Amino acid sequence: MRRNVVIFIIISALVLIYAVHSVWILLSLLVFDGSEDAISRAELPAPKSGAISERPQLIPKIIHQTYVNDSIPEHWIAPQRSCLDLHKDYEYKLWTDKKAREFIAAEYPWFLETFDGYTYPIQRADAIRYFVLHHFGGIYIDLDDGCNRSLDPLLAYPAWVRRTTPTGISNDVMGAVPRHPFFLKAIDSLPNYNRKWVLPYITVMASTGPLFLSIIWRHYVNANPQGAERLRILFPDEYQNHSWSFFTHHLGNSWHNNDVRLIFWMAKHWLMLTVVGFAVGFLVLGCIYTVFVKSRQNSNSPRSRFAYPRMPSYRRANPKDGIPLEDRLEV
Ligand SMILES: *[C@@H]1O[C@H](CO)[C@@H](O)[C@H](O)[C@H]1NC(C)=O
Repeated sequence: MRRNVVIFIIISALVLIYAVHSVWILLSLLVFDGSEDAISRAELPAPKSGAISERPQLIPKIIHQTYVNDSIPEHWIAPQRSCLDLHKDYEYKLWTDKKAREFIAAEYPWFLETFDGYTYPIQRADAIRYFVLHHFGGIYIDLDDGCNRSLDPLLAYPAWVRRTTPTGISNDVMGAVPRHPFFLKAIDSLPNYNRKWVLPYITVMASTGPLFLSIIWRHYVNANPQGAERLRILFPDEYQNHSWSFFTHHLGNSWHNNDVRLIFWMAKHWLMLTVVGFAVGFLVLGCIYTVFVKSRQNSNSPRSRFAYPRMPSYRRANPKDGIPLEDRLEV
């Protein structure tokens, strides 16, 4: 019996180690907040500072945005305008579906099959931004993000992304020099992450969206990139809500649906879900243990170990049944 318990604990431990190993990067997202790579507010000049900037301009002055076609919807005109007005010396590239596909076909033909194969248009909108940043460099801005001040100070970092709460990074505003290794890693990883999950929202998030980028981010940081390879992080206060923040976020995600409500509900009730998850986990372990112990008890019992064919009809017909074996042999 004690041997059963030891074997059971070893098997359970192996299963647990395998499970934790599979989701290790996801778990690490809960722990690492990227503060070691934060773009500190103290190192940024004030929005209308008179100080002479000695900061280098590394990122080219290009703003990238994406939309289905050239007719930007009414509710996104204002945020788009705010970015254009503050950056008159920047080149502006709007990546329509048609332009995006032509660009991939011309510059990254190895990706065209994956690109065309995506189920949801938002996956193409996600993917194209990593490719244009890798190819041209510049700053990508979602159409629902407006600009609150000039982005010039952010041109001084080889690459940066935006931190989201409670965990991970977003892909709605990002900047980089051309061929930055982080975006190289992102585009290189896209085909591998092109998997379907049960909910469309999770499929989008994990194949091309913020969850995908956050996982790539953790893998990237684990390799300890230094100098120009380092990826800097714009924290929420520098992103929006303050006079010195760079952006203003306008609501208007066109593709949100029931999945998103489910995810938000899960995020809100994460503690309860964790407790229920553990309870179900232990219940399953308990059941497996019971079955395991039962099956070993059965295989250890003398009857099954020395089983011989039973012949009930013959035995029933045998008049000498009930007489001890030794007596029967003497007859
Ligand atoms: C652009 O796309 C939107 C949304 O799909 C559509 O309603 C609109 O008709 C399109 N405009 C043109 C000019 O094709």
